[in-house]
Amino acid sequence: MKVKNVTLNNGQEMPMVGLGTYARKSQPGQFRQAVEWAIELGYRHIDTAAAYKNEEEVGEGIANKINEGVVKREDLFITNKLWNDCHAQDVVVKTLKESLRKMKLDYIDLYLVHWPVSVNANGVDTAISYLETWKGMEEAVKLGLAKSIGVSNFNEKQIQEVHNKAVIKPAVNQFEINPTLTQHQLVNLCKQLSVLPVAYTPLGLISEARPEFAGIDVIKTDPKLGGIATKYGKTRAQIALRYLIQRGIPVIPKSFTKSRIEENLNVFEFHLTDEEIDIVDNYNLNHRCVPGKGFEKYEYYPY
Ligand SMILES: NC(=O)c1ccc[n+]([C@@H]2O[C@H](COP(=O)([O-])OP(=O)(O)OC[C@H]3O[C@@H](n4cnc5c(N)ncnc54)[C@H](OP(=O)(O)O)[C@@H]3O)[C@@H](O)[C@H]2O)c1
Repeated sequence: MKVKNVTLNNGQEMPMVGLGTYARKSQPGQFRQAVEWAIELGYRHIDTAAAYKNEEEVGEGIANKINEGVVKREDLFITNKLWNDCHAQDVVVKTLKESLRKMKLDYIDLYLVHWPVSVNANGVDTAISYLETWKGMEEAVKLGLAKSIGVSNFNEKQIQEVHNKAVIKPAVNQFEINPTLTQHQLVNLCKQLSVLPVAYTPLGLISEARPEFAGIDVIKTDPKLGGIATKYGKTRAQIALRYLIQRGIPVIPKSFTKSRIEENLNVFEFHLTDEEIDIVDNYNLNHRCVPGKGFEKYEYYPY
C-alpha cells in the first residue's frame, strides 16, 4: 500500500498516515511488535513521545526493520515530543539528545512541544513561556537533531503567537481531531499559517478503550456511517480516517492489532463524496477524548 505524503512548510515530506504509540496499558514488547508490523505493512511514519515511556521499544522496532533491510532510516518519518517538565530553553536540546539515545537514532524528523503548559516534576506550574521553549526547539534544528519542529495541543492564540515570534516557523500543530471533534476553526487557522494540523485520537469515540462513551458512540452505531462503509467495502474506522485525510489532515491511529494496523493504512484507494464528508462532519459533538484535565490549573492550559 503506497501512502500519500504531504509537504511541510520547510519542504520535508510527511506520510499522511502514521502509527500512534500511546497506550494507557501495554504488555512488554507490544509497542515493538506494533512498530515492526506497521513498517512491514508499509507505514513510514511513527509517532511517539518521551511521556509514553516507550522510546526504547519503538526505537528497537525501527532498528530491527532497518537491520533486516526492510526500510532505510531516510525513508522513515519519526515524531517525538518534549514533555512539560523540560520547557526551559537550555533543557530542550539535552532532552532531545536523551530521547535520541533511547531510540538509537541520530536525528528525529519532527520534534513537538507536547503541551503548552510547563510543569516541574513535582506538579508545580513553572509557567515557562512556550516562546522560550521554542528557542530551544530552534537550536535542535540548527544542530541537525530535528529536521522539523512543531507544537501539540496549542490553541489558536498560542499557535498564532509562536508563529509570529518564531525564526523557524512551526511546521505542525498536532491536536485531537476526529468526527466528533471536527475543530474547523483551529484547522483553518493552522492552514492559513502554513502549519500542518495533524490529527491525534483520529478514531475518537470509536475506541473500545473508552467504554465510558459507549452510550453516545455515534461513530460505532450510526446507520448512515454504516451505509457509507458498506458502499465502499470499508470499515467505519476507515471512513473516519478517510474523512480526515480528505480534509488534508494526516492521521496517527494507534493499534496493537495487526489487522487494524493494516486496515488503518488502506484509506487511499477510495474517495468520499462531498455529501458523505458532510454526514461525517455532522457527528461533531465538540467532545474531547483528551481534555488534559490534569493541566487545567496551569497558566498555559489551552482549552
Ligand atoms: N499530542 C498529544 O497530546 C496526543 C494525545 C493523544 C494521542 N496522541 C497520539 O495519537 C495516537 C492516536 O491516538 P489514540 O491512541 O488516543 O486514539 P486512536 O488512535 O483514535 O484510537 C486507538 C484505539 O482505537 C482502536 N483501534 C485502532 N484501529 C481501529 C480500527 N481500525 N477499528 C476499531 N478500533 C480501532 C485501538 O485498539 P487496539 O490497539 O486494541 O487495536 C485503540 O483502542 C496516540 O497513540 C499518540 O501517538 C497524541
